[in-house]
Amino acid sequence: MNEIKLQDAYSRPLRDLRISVTDRCNFRCVYCMPSDIFGPDYSFMPREELLTFEEIVRLARLFVNRGVEKIRLTGGEPLLRKNFPVLVSMLSQIDGLKDLSVTTNGLLLRKFAPILKEAGVHRVNVSLDALDNEIFTKMNGVNVRSESVLSGIDAAKESGLTVKVNMVVKKGMNDTEILPMARVFREKGITLRFIEFMDVGATNGWKMDEVVTSKEIHAAIHREMPLEPVDPNYFGEVAKRYRYAGTDTEIGFISSVSAAFCSSCTRARLSADGRLYTCLFAGKGVPFRELVRSHAADDEILSVIDSTWNKRDDRYSELRSQFYESGKQKERIEMSYIGG
Ligand code: GTP
Ligand code: 5AD
Ligand code: SF4
Ligand code: SF4
Repeated sequence: MNEIKLQDAYSRPLRDLRISVTDRCNFRCVYCMPSDIFGPDYSFMPREELLTFEEIVRLARLFVNRGVEKIRLTGGEPLLRKNFPVLVSMLSQIDGLKDLSVTTNGLLLRKFAPILKEAGVHRVNVSLDALDNEIFTKMNGVNVRSESVLSGIDAAKESGLTVKVNMVVKKGMNDTEILPMARVFREKGITLRFIEFMDVGATNGWKMDEVVTSKEIHAAIHREMPLEPVDPNYFGEVAKRYRYAGTDTEIGFISSVSAAFCSSCTRARLSADGRLYTCLFAGKGVPFRELVRSHAADDEILSVIDSTWNKRDDRYSELRSQFYESGKQKERIEMSYIGG
């Protein structure tokens, strides 16, 4: 198989593959799976529609052949997928893969952290939106207390995983937690990243006036704990990085709403049922499951990867305001379906 480095319509390479392994989650975050919509009657993907581990690994290998260097496993909540560590160890053996990471809500992390490390995970990003339990339980929708997630974060660190914490900020809900979270994670020496509340999917009731911008968050923290900029780790890094002056501890800002980063977006997303999405805000995905199950040869699958990436022209975040001004909204997949 020839190794080909792909480029899309705006010359963006294909570097990262985010693989969602389940659309289920044990949280009901207000901005992602609001419980009035994702209630007991919500129909999740039936088991037979999920890619098997063998199918995921085969596709992952072909994507690595086309330039992917980093794979991130997501959900819903990836740790809910049965035998998840087995998938991790299968993926970790792919030649040419440089980084294998997981994004999780952290509830099951105390149990899984050492197993994931052993299976070959390098890094975990853990979501935590508040320390205050009145606020946190309101946001996660399932009464999980912040101590449980903090315990998962500590376990991940103790297991030798590189850990980052993600906090989605929603105005009027958890903006009072910005400084307490910054203080705690500065003390722990763990990178905390603030994420602007995004209009992903069609169920989270997104409104622009509920977004707290990175600039506002930066200013609030900088007043108390001065920050200095840090160079990006790699081309297309999603978060703008800073460090607390005089320390090695970093903090990041993911500004998908106020400062779109589409021009350097190198990410493809594979849903748990095997559709490939070239943007977080895409409406339709390219079905790979049927292709794999029809016994297509590697070359045939590679040519679908190539043609999909070559014609990719997504840049939703850069065009967001035009969509809202025109009153015409596009169809968008849910965050829990595509894993962020
Ligand atoms: P690192 O490899 O650690 O930098 O991971 P990451 O920040 O790419 O992944 P993570 O799953 O932690 O995502 C953090 C937040 O960034 C989530 O809210 C994602 O939805 C958001 N995000 C990641 N990639 C993109 C993207 O391509 N577009 C947009 N709009 N948001 C993204
Ligand atoms: N806006 C911003 N971030 C979101 N996430 C989920 N939904 C949204 C949204 N509407 C975040 C999660 C997790 C990451 C994968 O995506 O908190 O950290
Ligand atoms: Fe679950 Fe993550 Fe969505 Fe929260 S943001 S409901 S933890 S998938
Ligand atoms: Fe990439 Fe789409 Fe996000 Fe832009 S909006 S950074 S193209 S995923």
